[in-house]
Amino acid sequence: MRTDIVHMGAGKLTYEIRNIIRVVEKLQQLGIKVHLENIGDPVAKGEKIPHWMKRIVADLAMQDCSYGYCHTQGILETREYLAANRNRNGGVHISPGDIVFFNGLGEAITKIYGLLRSTARIITPSPTYTTHSSSEAAHAGQPPVTYPLDPLNHWRPDLRELRRRVQYNPSVAGILIINPDNPTGAVYPEETLREIVAIARELDLFLIADEIYQNLVYNGQKTLPLADVLGDVPGLAMKGISKELPWPGSRCGWVEIYNADKDPDFLRYVQSIINAKMIEVCSTTLPQRAIPHILQHPEYAEYLGQRCRRYESFSNLAYRKLSDVPGLMVNRTDGAFYMSVAFEPGVLSLDQTLPVPNREARKLVEELTADPEMQPDKRFVYYLLASTGICVVPLSSFNTPLQGFRMTLLEPDEEEFSRVLDELLHSIRLYLGSAAARTGRFGSRAPSRWRFPPRTG
Ligand SMILES: Cc1ncc(COP(=O)(O)O)c(C=O)c1O
Repeated sequence: MRTDIVHMGAGKLTYEIRNIIRVVEKLQQLGIKVHLENIGDPVAKGEKIPHWMKRIVADLAMQDCSYGYCHTQGILETREYLAANRNRNGGVHISPGDIVFFNGLGEAITKIYGLLRSTARIITPSPTYTTHSSSEAAHAGQPPVTYPLDPLNHWRPDLRELRRRVQYNPSVAGILIINPDNPTGAVYPEETLREIVAIARELDLFLIADEIYQNLVYNGQKTLPLADVLGDVPGLAMKGISKELPWPGSRCGWVEIYNADKDPDFLRYVQSIINAKMIEVCSTTLPQRAIPHILQHPEYAEYLGQRCRRYESFSNLAYRKLSDVPGLMVNRTDGAFYMSVAFEPGVLSLDQTLPVPNREARKLVEELTADPEMQPDKRFVYYLLASTGICVVPLSSFNTPLQGFRMTLLEPDEEEFSRVLDELLHSIRLYLGSAAARTGRFGSRAPSRWRFPPRTG
């Protein structure tokens, strides 16, 4: 090309959650039965959509108006319903004009970062859901700016470090919170949220809260939506139906805008987001029409409750089993449906392996892991996949220096989930001991039996 056509942030767009599928497909061709634990799609994992919900969607599909464009910001009746729901709780008051629908939060995320001035940064958690960190890094053409979530403290944000990093980096204009969190399954208590709001207020920042999992909280934990603690700080909350109904194929999510009138720059910025949506016309119509009918249905609360109880029971099962394995830092999942397990520093090395009985699969995994630059947890994930067919995602691909993996709690069959966990923990023990068995040496450290700190707050 006579001029460089590649955006300077293009290299930042990676998504290991789906990248790994390329390896899965090759292994499937070699006859390996794969158990997918990589993608957070409850429907793909076999979640049954209740008949009454399908009925609502089917009835709407029989109406001609479901096939037209809708208002740029989304169907007015639905925005009225959502705004009234928000305002019922107290906290920040919004009107339907403060809500914008998108074709899934994935689209909202890329727009929200893409429309920021390239020198303005949003500090994102580490680890974080890759769509956020990749889109933010791509908009700036720079590596993400991050604050750590602490595996030694229930994956809560390290607030001292957050404050320090924001204070000393004047390009940071906003803070991202994901609550409940993907990939860690952490749920932030009210005090944590209030402290983050206080940092934003003090340093003149705005807040973005991804609340797509807000109603998937269990194990007796409590949290609040951003709007309840935000006061007069400008902010955006991202909500959606992909996980909660669940209906990820609807490609439908929305953003609530808070306190736009409190800051003229923030107002111009959110107006540019709405204008960008206007250029595209609007988002998917039918799912927006379905939202009030589904959320108000008499069976909805019990249906959601049942799902939360299942995730709670699976989170405790996984926690009990995995926290017994030396060399791991394990936190119980309290919300959403992911579990991130970190390896203790130094227990992974680049000469650990697992037995891979299928000769072709062994050759493939040896080729894939021959790269000396490969992250050690990615090597573990590839060996686990070829050896057992269990497909998890390396933790390092969630924009963190921590090594580990993320799995889901989405398997609907408890017996199968328990079997997968047993195979996983057997493989971890084998893997961590494999180099030592050959050479008498562990990684730079032998695995220890790590003990969980007491829960505070
Ligand atoms: C934290 C978080 N935000 C946003 C999304 C994207 O959701 P959507 O299906 O609405 O694009 C996901 C999907 O996994 C997610 O985990």
